[in-house]
Formats: sequence, C-alpha cells, structure tokens
Amino acid sequence: MPATTPARAIPVSPATAAGGTRTLAIDIGGTGLKALVLGPDGAVLTDRARVETPRPATPANILRDLWALIEPLGEFDRISVGFPGVVIEGVIKTAPNLHEDWEDFDLARALAEGSRRPVRVLNDAGVQGYGVVEGRGVEMVLTLGTGLGCAVYNDGKYVPNLELAHHPFGNGKTYEQYVGKKALEKIGKKKWNKRVREVIAQVLPIWNPRKLYLGGGNAKHIKFALPDNVTITPNIAGLVGGIALWRDAKPAVPAPVAPAP
Ligand code: BGC
Repeated sequence: MPATTPARAIPVSPATAAGGTRTLAIDIGGTGLKALVLGPDGAVLTDRARVETPRPATPANILRDLWALIEPLGEFDRISVGFPGVVIEGVIKTAPNLHEDWEDFDLARALAEGSRRPVRVLNDAGVQGYGVVEGRGVEMVLTLGTGLGCAVYNDGKYVPNLELAHHPFGNGKTYEQYVGKKALEKIGKKKWNKRVREVIAQVLPIWNPRKLYLGGGNAKHIKFALPDNVTITPNIAGLVGGIALWRDAKPAVPAPVAPAP
C-alpha cells in the first residue's frame, strides 16, 4: 500500500459550516499514536484516540495506522501534527525513535493528499509547548517520553528544532540516553529521578527560562520537589497545542485541488 493511501471514508467537511473550523490534532510518538479534534478556540471536541506505534515504524506503517485511528473522529478542516524529530516545512529530517525511512519524507504533503485538508507539522515538543506556554519571556519545555523532547519560546514564539536530546550530557551519554525511556526501564524510577533532577539543574542556568515545563508520558514518575519555576504539564498539551500551529500567516501545505482517487 502506498504511504499516502487514506482510510476509505474521511468525511467531507462542509468546512466551517456549523461549529467553526475543526482541527485534527495528531501526536506521533515513539510508543503511541494519538489524535483528537479541537474546536476553533482550541477546546477538545472528541475523545483522545490512541494506538501503539507500529513496528517497524516506517512512514507507510504509521500512515496506515493513522488513517484508521482518525476515521472515527469525524469531520475536520485542517490537520496539525507533532512529530518526534526534526521537521522543516512539513518535511521530516530525523526520526531517531521511529525509522530511517522518515528521512526527507514529506509528511505534510502525504497527509494533505490523503485527507484533502491543509496540514502543518512541527516537532512534537514544539507542539507540546504551544499547549502550555504563557507567551512571556523565555519559556522552555522538556518532554520525558520515549525520547527527550526540548522546545524553547521567546515571548511565545517557538525556536524550532532544538535537539537537546542528542547533545552529550556526560559519562559518554547524550541527554536522551541519560533520561529517555530505555534508561528509565534499565535503571528504575529511583535512579531515573536522580538523573532527571541533574538534567534540570544543568539546563536551568544555561537557558535561564522564566518557566520550565515538563511533559511527556514519563513526567508522571517524577517524585522530587521541583524548583519554583518548573512545573509538570498534562500530556494532552501535545495535542491541544496543535491549534497554535494555525495562529500565524505562514502558508500551510495546501489541500490538493484534484479529488482523491
Ligand atoms: C527527537 C526529538 C523529539 C524527542 C521526543 C528525540 O529523540 O530527536 O526531535 O522531540 O525525541 O519525541
């Protein structure tokens, strides 16, 4: 099956007909694929749908499972995606916890062709931060999941693709190898907590954020007292933040004009 093959019946939306623009928010993770629909003001309109990330996590396999995941969510007018790697103008550059076939894969175009809706794709930590930042001064997000996500904002404006995950931390390990999912599974929660505390202590005096937000599926395992400007945020921000991708006037990958086959 080609990577862009859509689910059989993506409903044709009468755009903003009754309730205003509906944004399908998708979060592609190393462990799970998640999606829900947001209203024009960012309110959550549907349940959160989730499936395990297929392995191998190739573009074809993930797109196949995404079409099935989103089909029951009903109508939508546009799509926002958080992706766990470097994303430039909708094209994937890296996907360290998925599969090498993602390199240079035009995810925005594949989704736009399959859904006939405009699409915007951003790094997953970038989307997560958009769901929580206040828009004042420097704010930073670290997501503790399969990988280590990192995003920085100045007065609410995101600085894309800061890949702290793969920077050396110490002891011959990168930040992600130090506190990512594999480390947590290997060393257990107690030692992992100690490591996360070290990472926070390292990061704060370098970026000097007004606020540091911790997200991702493993943030719930944090047991130590956090500094005053550090808070744990709900993981759903990784989807809710998708509404912010449409705030600026940058062109999205347009919905193709030709009808889908
Ligand atoms: C990737 C980041 C991503 C993070 C969390 C890292 O391995 O390099 O781009 O944000 O994982 O998914």
